[in-house]
Amino acid sequence: MSEDKLNQIKTKYAVVDAKNPDAQQMQIAADFIKDGKLVAFPTETVYGLGGNALDPTASERIYAAKGRPSDNPLIVHIAEFEDLLRVGKNVPREAKLLADAFWPGPLTMIVERNEVVPHETTGGLDTVAVRMPNHQVALELIRKSGCLIAAPSANTSGRPSPTEGKHVKEDLNGKIAMILDGGPVGIGIESTIIDLTEECPMVLRPGYITPAMLSKVIGKEVIIDPGIIAADDTRKPKAPGMKYKHYAPKGNLMLVEGDLESVIAEINRRTAEDKVAGKKTIVIATEETKNRYQADEILSIGEREKEEEIARHLYGILRECDTLGAQAIYSESFATPKMGQAIMNRLLKAAGHEVVQV
Ligand code: TXA
Ligand code: MG
Repeated sequence: MSEDKLNQIKTKYAVVDAKNPDAQQMQIAADFIKDGKLVAFPTETVYGLGGNALDPTASERIYAAKGRPSDNPLIVHIAEFEDLLRVGKNVPREAKLLADAFWPGPLTMIVERNEVVPHETTGGLDTVAVRMPNHQVALELIRKSGCLIAAPSANTSGRPSPTEGKHVKEDLNGKIAMILDGGPVGIGIESTIIDLTEECPMVLRPGYITPAMLSKVIGKEVIIDPGIIAADDTRKPKAPGMKYKHYAPKGNLMLVEGDLESVIAEINRRTAEDKVAGKKTIVIATEETKNRYQADEILSIGEREKEEEIARHLYGILRECDTLGAQAIYSESFATPKMGQAIMNRLLKAAGHEVVQV
């Protein structure tokens, strides 16, 4: 523990193949986990910071490395469905249906907690969040270590979640035992969280898997936590992590919404003003619009019609704003048909709900 506190761990960095990771590196990583140490690893959503979920000391180390408030619970990652029944209690039949449809995959289920899971892992709650990631490196790490792995996103608390190994290194080098770099992730935003402990299943965090997809599988209505939609503080989100101002770049980020021509005109008007004021300006645009702006830097998030590309690039772009030293950042809005809710949830939080309608 003392070595963690001094931030003087030598972090081992291993590049591994995402589909067929090197057995020797995976063994080293698994041994660290068995030993109560922390290993960052890729999943299909974002990189996770893993530790033995049933070891309270490992969970405490995770909070310390991220600088995360300890009332914010961790997700337990499993590789076999049966382990859901080990960490959960009174698991409803919907869980099996959802697992059959979406696991391994970007869905986290909240069920009642079994006592084997320490309070340190669940942030003191009597429920537990569980997910089976769809990534060979993550699954092998769980199986080889023989542990269930508690893993939040592998970023410093408050920074955008990491979608590449180098992002993890920026935030956690010197604080954890090892980073497994399996290349860029596929999805780029965190898993959908569904709470199965309520009468009506409720999405606590939107993601790649939409309420409509969930509802179709379980044959009942799935609602969205009203607390994550409210822009003000009148309703608290149920997932403790959703209340924090997350993902915020250091510069001021503003979203501009409206018809595209008006959005472009408004952003150009504002960046011109900022330039006069001596501020470094960045615009988050698309392939279609990137040549229409006059800011200091224009970052293209992808083609507007390819929402999966937009999701995949979002966090990397927010990090780039910091790297480039942006002071005033403007973004187009991306309320795309399927993942739009998840994308806009992250962007709105990054912007501290600062939105201009034109
Ligand atoms: O895609 C993901 O889910 C990634 C990868 C690494 O698996 N993990 C991730 O973990 O995003 P994290 O810790 O950054 O976010 C977990 C979220 C937090 O908002 C937390 O408050 C919520 O899940 N959560 C965890 N356990 C909960 C519980 N028992 N009840 C309500 N919310 C819970
Ligand atoms: Mg996170």
